[in-house]
Amino acid sequence: MSSYLIAPSILSADFARLGEDVEKVLAAGADVVHFDVMDNHYVPNLTFGPMFCQALRDYGITAPIDVHLMIEPVDQIVPAFAKAGANIITFHPEASKHVDRTLQLIKDHGCQAGLVLNPATPLTTLEHVLDKLDVIMLMSVNPGFGGQTFIPHTIEKLRQVRALIEQSGRKIRLEIDGGVNVNNIKEIAEAGADMFVAGSAIFSQPDYQKVINEMREQLSQ
Ligand code: DX5
Ligand code: ZN
Repeated sequence: MSSYLIAPSILSADFARLGEDVEKVLAAGADVVHFDVMDNHYVPNLTFGPMFCQALRDYGITAPIDVHLMIEPVDQIVPAFAKAGANIITFHPEASKHVDRTLQLIKDHGCQAGLVLNPATPLTTLEHVLDKLDVIMLMSVNPGFGGQTFIPHTIEKLRQVRALIEQSGRKIRLEIDGGVNVNNIKEIAEAGADMFVAGSAIFSQPDYQKVINEMREQLSQ
């Protein structure tokens, strides 16, 4: 795997042909499947749960699955996702009463653990849990929907989180989610991100390979 990971968000995939579409995007060069779980409570939208994750595994998808939980509460669903084949589980700190406990729960179930910060969530949230984090994900849109526009102040926030990660000396992925496309991915990488979620930018195109190649080209410049 390259040091930059491209993680298509299946929120924008064809739900009626999910297995085929995921297979297609992976064959086109994607590294990770980004799996957006929404509960119509923590966010104003509703998607899919562990059974869909299991269904993708049963279909034969072997790529890492990055489960982004936009649900409240968090803890009850963690074991089910681990069992269904999740590799990374991230959640929003506002949605868990005991953030440290939830991170540990995810790790105890054999998955990598991460926190997701909304555009208005301060970085202080990371302060006492850095040693438990495998991933930090910054939302560059407000969570709930695909196809929104990248919020520019996230660039500065990315730089600050990258500095925090370097200071920590730990190997923590810095993932960005929301409004990522071919035109802004380079600037986002330069600010410190190394894992890129992209939903509409990939799935709205007829040729997934073309757009993923264009993204990689931007990242290699
Ligand atoms: C939004 C989700 C994102 C979303 C990204 O709440 O977490 O993963 O699908 O979609 P785009 O890339 O279209 O902004
Ligand atoms: Zn997401």
